[in-house]
Amino acid sequence: MKAAVYYENGGPDVFRYEDVADPDCHAKGVVIRVEAVSIEGGDTLNRLRGALVTKPHVVGYQAAGEIVQIGEAVTNLKVGQKVVTTGAFGSHATLRAVAARSAWPIPEGMDVRVAACVPIPFGTAHECLFEFGRLQKGEVVLVQAGASGVGIAAIQLAARAGAAMVLATASSDERLEKLKGLGLTHGINYDRDDVVTEVMRLTDNKGADVIVDPVGGAILQSSILSLAYRGRVSMVGQAGREPMKVDVSTMMGGNRSLSGVFLGAEIGTDRVYNLIQGLIGDVAKGELKVVIDRAFKLSEAAEAHRYIESRQAVGRVLLVP
Ligand SMILES: NC(=O)c1ccc[n+]([C@@H]2O[C@H](COP(=O)([O-])OP(=O)(O)OC[C@H]3O[C@@H](n4cnc5c(N)ncnc54)[C@H](OP(=O)(O)O)[C@@H]3O)[C@@H](O)[C@H]2O)c1
Repeated sequence: MKAAVYYENGGPDVFRYEDVADPDCHAKGVVIRVEAVSIEGGDTLNRLRGALVTKPHVVGYQAAGEIVQIGEAVTNLKVGQKVVTTGAFGSHATLRAVAARSAWPIPEGMDVRVAACVPIPFGTAHECLFEFGRLQKGEVVLVQAGASGVGIAAIQLAARAGAAMVLATASSDERLEKLKGLGLTHGINYDRDDVVTEVMRLTDNKGADVIVDPVGGAILQSSILSLAYRGRVSMVGQAGREPMKVDVSTMMGGNRSLSGVFLGAEIGTDRVYNLIQGLIGDVAKGELKVVIDRAFKLSEAAEAHRYIESRQAVGRVLLVP
């Protein structure tokens, strides 16, 4: 198969487009012919500093396509079926092997490229808001990095759940503008304005009840300081690429909490598998929207990663073999 591979961690230039051995199909797994790779935020971080568990390493969490091979123990899927898959690595290739448990059937008529973008961002945002954030109707939500894959999902899910206000941050006014229509109430340009000051101004000094933070570093500190009484932060990523040094001294007095959220730890459970299948269905029905910024060829993985790291993309960037 063809794959975008690398032999060492580093910037986007480490990618090579090469022939590598086809993946083996596990008895409990499937192999898909990849039609669309959704480049996840974690893929860029893994390329930069993640473990090279294969050599050359094929990075990537999420891709969709058609099943071309099926393990003898798999009874719920069939060759020719379209699925979206997740896994610890291996999406940036023309073929991908995953456990059948990590393949979700794509509803008839749904665009494979759209389906390719659903499981991780929407599943993660849902976990942040509801499972760990315990969001209730009428509460105020703040989504840090609202133009990210996780952020765009979180804005929509919070609005759909009846949040009183959905606030989101992004690094420019243009990026915030593109979030209008997804359920955003107010945008905060965190490159220019102080997040805590803006959240307090917009909430009559009450703060936000639930905060989704995929950025970390100094932004995580602003999340903690933006919390309402009994507010909850779901800390879910390190897109800011900064060390996590935070002062939690304001948490106790306000009965506030900070949860780490890792979808991967529970993605294999029936609960999360079914949650993700439901979210794919909601997107297929048009109740939730996938935002695709642009698509590159698989052979252009370096350009695609460079584009994402330039912080111009709003929503997903795809690779298409
Ligand atoms: N724990 C989990 O289960 C889980 C699951 C999914 C994702 N994640 C993590 O969540 C984070 C976001 O994932 P994603 O897929 O939503 O990412 P994404 O779509 O690639 O977006 C990342 C966003 O981060 C913002 N950002 C802030 N500082 C940045 C920097 N120094 N360099 C690049 N971007 C920066 C950018 O928006 P602005 O320019 O507007 O700031 C960008 O849109 C990643 O760290 C990912 O690993 C964790």
